[in-house]
Amino acid sequence: MKVIWESPANIALVKYWGKYGSQMPANPSVSMTLHQSKTTTEVSLDEGLSPGKWQYTYSGIRKPLFEPKLKSFFNLALAHLPGLSKVGISINSSNNFPHSSGISSSASFFSSLALGLCELEKELSKTNQSIDEFYQKASFLARLGSGSASRSVYPNYAIWGECAYPQSSDQFAIPLSANTIHPVFRTYKDAILIVSSSPKPMSSSLGHKLMDDNPYSKVRYEEARKNLSLILEAIKYGDQVKYIEIVEHEAQTLHGLILSSINGSILLEPGTLEIIQRVKKFRKDTGSNCCFTLDAGPNIHLLYPESESNTVEVFIESELKPFCEDGKWIRDSIGSGPEKK
Ligand code: PMV
Repeated sequence: MKVIWESPANIALVKYWGKYGSQMPANPSVSMTLHQSKTTTEVSLDEGLSPGKWQYTYSGIRKPLFEPKLKSFFNLALAHLPGLSKVGISINSSNNFPHSSGISSSASFFSSLALGLCELEKELSKTNQSIDEFYQKASFLARLGSGSASRSVYPNYAIWGECAYPQSSDQFAIPLSANTIHPVFRTYKDAILIVSSSPKPMSSSLGHKLMDDNPYSKVRYEEARKNLSLILEAIKYGDQVKYIEIVEHEAQTLHGLILSSINGSILLEPGTLEIIQRVKKFRKDTGSNCCFTLDAGPNIHLLYPESESNTVEVFIESELKPFCEDGKWIRDSIGSGPEKK
């Protein structure tokens, strides 16, 4: 028995940074699901392994450094997979984007793994599950591996964390319904500008943990809630000015928190700052609607409406590419979610 699922990465617009309990978010977040940057994961039953045991390879090669994270995941996940805990499981995954490219591979990986596990579990335990229940369980399980992975289970935009949006939860993400997405935000683009592909000096697990003692955390969590409701309004009504204001403020706040945490880090590179200044100037000079965001690393995600693809891409090539490592950048866009292969 074998299943293959392909899942995309996502980019958070309002960031999840800080958690409590068992992988619960300290504040709600919303992300755009990507189209191009994906992980493909094959999950199969393995008779050579004893019940509850698993083995993992990346493109056919064992990755011992990744095993502790998978071990924590399975310790939590198998309690929710009674059928699978009676068998051995083999997993093989591969990404179609470069390792350490600033694209969160843990989100696309844990989302594809969770979908594969849910499907095998459904087969083994012969449960009757609606499609919505299937995805909700996959999102719940993905969250146990990596919080942001809970959002990669859904197309377009996903919210994770309890907030005013109906059905939202800390346990799993939910998709933003189509009637709350203005047409301009249905075809958004994301150019991922690789400033540095070196491994990050601080893991996101450590970053979340440092928020426990960050003197600004309480204010941050409140502000994230406000930003979430504002950006949902902006996405619903097509307000790009408000969207830009919140997206950039969220990116700067994330790095402000990383800097202000006790034993915090500087994850931005000189090239990141140079690109940010140029994006702001380009917008001022041309009236463009492009804006930047960041994950917990130095690489830029440049977001812009499809109608500006040509002008923004000319701008990237001429003005931003010199600050990218080996001139590398990835053309991505909003995506339609995971696919079963
Ligand atoms: O899912 P994690 O634990 O890798 O944390 C992701 C944190 C950010 O990417 C910085 C923000 C987010 O909401 O995706």
